[in-house]
Amino acid sequence: MTETWKTLHAQADAVRDRSLSELFRDSGRPQVFSAQTGDMLFDYSKTNIDMDTRDALLALAREAQVESKRDAMFSGATINETEGRAVLHTALRNLDGGEVSVGGQDVMPEIHATRAAMAKFAERIRKSDVTDVINIGIGGSDLGPAMAVAALAPYHDGPRCHFVSNVDGADISDTLRGLDAKTTLVIIASKTFTTIETMTNARTARAWILDQGGDPKRQFAALSTAQDRTEAFGIDPVHVFGFEDWVGGRYSVWGPIGLSMMIAIGSKAFDAFLRGAQAMDTHFRAASLDENLPVLLALTGIWHNQICGYATRAVLPYDERLHKLPAYLQQLEMESNGKGVRMDGTDSPRHTGPIVWGAAGTNGQHAFYQLIHQGTRVVPCEFLLAARGHEPDLHHHHQLLIANCLAQSKALMEGRSLDEARAIVEAKGFTGDDIDRQARHRVFHGNRPSTTLLYPLLDPFTLGQIIVLYEHRVFVEGVILGINSFDQWGVELGKELATSLQPLVEGQTDAAPEDPSTAGLLAFIHTHQG
Ligand code: F6P
Repeated sequence: MTETWKTLHAQADAVRDRSLSELFRDSGRPQVFSAQTGDMLFDYSKTNIDMDTRDALLALAREAQVESKRDAMFSGATINETEGRAVLHTALRNLDGGEVSVGGQDVMPEIHATRAAMAKFAERIRKSDVTDVINIGIGGSDLGPAMAVAALAPYHDGPRCHFVSNVDGADISDTLRGLDAKTTLVIIASKTFTTIETMTNARTARAWILDQGGDPKRQFAALSTAQDRTEAFGIDPVHVFGFEDWVGGRYSVWGPIGLSMMIAIGSKAFDAFLRGAQAMDTHFRAASLDENLPVLLALTGIWHNQICGYATRAVLPYDERLHKLPAYLQQLEMESNGKGVRMDGTDSPRHTGPIVWGAAGTNGQHAFYQLIHQGTRVVPCEFLLAARGHEPDLHHHHQLLIANCLAQSKALMEGRSLDEARAIVEAKGFTGDDIDRQARHRVFHGNRPSTTLLYPLLDPFTLGQIIVLYEHRVFVEGVILGINSFDQWGVELGKELATSLQPLVEGQTDAAPEDPSTAGLLAFIHTHQG
């Protein structure tokens, strides 16, 4: 363990019982422990990070060479070493930047050409008789566009968008019911064009279109790096939008995988989304570490997870249209940083990516906030909040939403003491021993850390900024932990076993699965399948 890690652990021990409220005796704390880019404010003052801790965290980032590794990523170096690839999703939103070269070749002309072709296609679909678009994809080929389409509902003026991901036939069946096969466009989104869930759903959708008298040639499009496979599937090459293998699945919403979103909100609004993303890239590359939002968000993450030992973090958007953000971030963060082996092949000496979960406020308040406030585990909370909503006639709703969000972070920080709780139960008429017994249930220990991300309005530009803020946060945490955030070998074994188990499930072979547990489960299933 380096000296800086040791210093941070010692600091965590020293301040473990310090009250957060105490830190605010310094009235300048909110300004010192917050940072802004454009109209976006990140406040981390309600954490137990003080000047010394922040200095040590920044030292950790410097020792891990975050800045040079960041520059290597943007320059197209092969930083995804376990897959031998560059990591250049940033090039997809490099609207105003210059050349980006991979293997000596500038990739920008191709990116611009593909985006222009997507825009032409999207605008044609928006003007046509297409009423519904189905995006069939999974993981990064689903979560990004599905989250963004929900987030930008006020800007949605194109055909209805549906997202089918699960291989469970319930998903596609429920989606197709009620749709007109002759006015539906099916987009097959798959980087590899081999993912079993997506290909199974794609074949079912094709059969549905054919069965209902539609025209698959006209009504199918594909988004993929594998143009030979899209062709073999029978998709008209004119409707295929390609990208390169240096765009990771969970980082792919900025290019062709964003097509359904572009059709929903139009190519102009999609450009604004990319502009927001580019603005956050520029900030990440230019701002000093102590004013750099992705770096600061990452450092609060490292402080809470690796130093203080809080195993999970909750993402709590007080923004109903961001209700899919927690699921999106689960893939982004947990597929990227849920690794046990470091880049150099050695085991990580500390826990890596945290468990990410959450839900939109205020709904979560009526579900799991009980545990966040009074449970035995500390859950650092990450609030997101817009100053304005899109419903001017419902302004009072928005004011209530804001009050709730601010109330939660305040309650988490300040808590309620036993004395205060006693006064409350006494006022309710409890007496004698009952006072303490009842009061103890009403105590909030407080000191529970949270951060708040504020922005004026959830528009396309802002959504672009938010997603990139989290992308780079994941990158910085990965660099500090010494892991490769851009591979996902951990998903392979399950896929392989599913393929080998399929013939057994279908009863095509008498071979028994090797382990008795799986054999027993299979026997039960076969009995009940008759
Ligand atoms: O489950 C792993 C994964 O490879 C994700 O990383 C990816 O986003 C998803 O599957 C879908 O892959 P594809 O776009 O190739 O169908």
